[in-house]
Amino acid sequence: MRFTFYGHACFLIEVEGKKILFDPFISPNEKAKSVDINTIEANYILVSHGHEDHIADVEQIAKRTGAKLVSNFEIVSYFEKKGIENTHPMNHGGSWEFDFGTLKYVNAVHSSSFPDGSYAGNPGGFIISSNEKTFYYSGDTALTMDMKLIGEQEELDYIILPIGDNFTMGVKDAIIASDMLKCNKTIGVHFDTFGYIEIDHKKAVKNFTERGKELILLEIGETIKL
Ligand code: NI
Ligand code: MN
Repeated sequence: MRFTFYGHACFLIEVEGKKILFDPFISPNEKAKSVDINTIEANYILVSHGHEDHIADVEQIAKRTGAKLVSNFEIVSYFEKKGIENTHPMNHGGSWEFDFGTLKYVNAVHSSSFPDGSYAGNPGGFIISSNEKTFYYSGDTALTMDMKLIGEQEELDYIILPIGDNFTMGVKDAIIASDMLKCNKTIGVHFDTFGYIEIDHKKAVKNFTERGKELILLEIGETIKL
C-alpha cells in the first residue's frame, strides 16, 4: 500500500492495485502549488463532506479520470447534476464491497454544506478493509465516542486524522482518538493550510512519541509505502 500526501486533507492511497483519492483540494491551496492536478490518476474519489477545502477539485479530476465518486447521497447527487455519472452513494453505517476492499461510511462530528450554502448531508469518515491493510480516515471531526466503537470492531493498521485544531480536533484529542481506535500509527492531515490550523510539527510528533505512538507528517507531494 502506498500513501501520497497532496496537502491539507487530500491524499491518494494505492491499495489492491487501485488508486483512491480522498478529499481533493489542491488547486486553491497556496501550499500545494507544486502539485499538478492534471497528472493525478484515480480509480476512485472519496469525499468526506461538502466543504470547499475537501471538494474543490472533485469535478475536474472526476471528469478527466472517469474515477468513481463515492460519498454520501447528497454529495453524490450534487456532482451528478454537474455531469459526473460514475458515482456510488452511501450513508452512515453502510458498507459496500468494492474491488479494493470493503468500504464503510461512518460518523463524523462536524458540519457539512456546499460552498453555495446548500445542504451536503451529514459529514462522514471512511474505513477501508483490504487484503493489504485496514485503515480509517475520520474526515473533519471532533473527538467522538464513536471512535471507541470503531476500535472495537476493526483491527486498524493506520488511522488518518485531522490534527490542526480550531476546525477539527487537535493533537491532544487525536492522541485520545488513537487510544480509542486501538491504533498507534497516525498519519496527520488538516494542518498548516491556513493560519487557524498551523501547528508545531516537532511538538506534535513529540507528544505522540511520549505516549508510545507514531505521528507521520508528510511533505506535500511525498509518497510513503505503508
Ligand atoms: Ni470541513
Ligand atoms: Mn476541512
